[in-house]
Amino acid sequence: MTEKTLYQRLGGYDVIVVAVDDLLPRLMADDTLGRFWKNRSKDGIARERQLLIDYLANASGGSMYYTGRAMKLSHDGMGIDQNDWTRFTGHVAASLDHLGVKDPERADVVGFIESLKAEIVD
Ligand code: HEM
Repeated sequence: MTEKTLYQRLGGYDVIVVAVDDLLPRLMADDTLGRFWKNRSKDGIARERQLLIDYLANASGGSMYYTGRAMKLSHDGMGIDQNDWTRFTGHVAASLDHLGVKDPERADVVGFIESLKAEIVD
């Protein structure tokens, strides 16, 4: 028997889509984080939504291609600081709670996000 990927354990593509569609509006509505999305076009946000879905699906073991840029490159120079990061991870936690994602998957997702911090925070 092969071990299931995190992607499979979470419930696959549809669950990732629902999670991203729950998370992105939380980020954009955040008083502090909202600045990162303020002057972006609808198309730009739609593109980012799809890239985030592809990225998470690919990174969790789904057989999707991620065609976006590496995390360091895509967030470089944005000025994302520790406070932004704390707020971001707070929204991730709220989305996971809202979707009813429980450990061990919840801890796996949180651990994965934390592993990206050094590439994203300036
Ligand atoms: C405080 C934390 C974060 C902020 C403020 C933030 C903000 C942004 C913004 C504004 C963009 C659009 C860039 C552009 O189109 O020029 C972006 C792109 C992206 N972000 Fe983040 N992000 C954060 C953390 C993360 C994390 C933790 C992940 C992964 C789970 C992630 C995944 C992505 C992806 C996949 C893209 C698309 C890359 C591309 O355009 O090629 N971000 N982010």
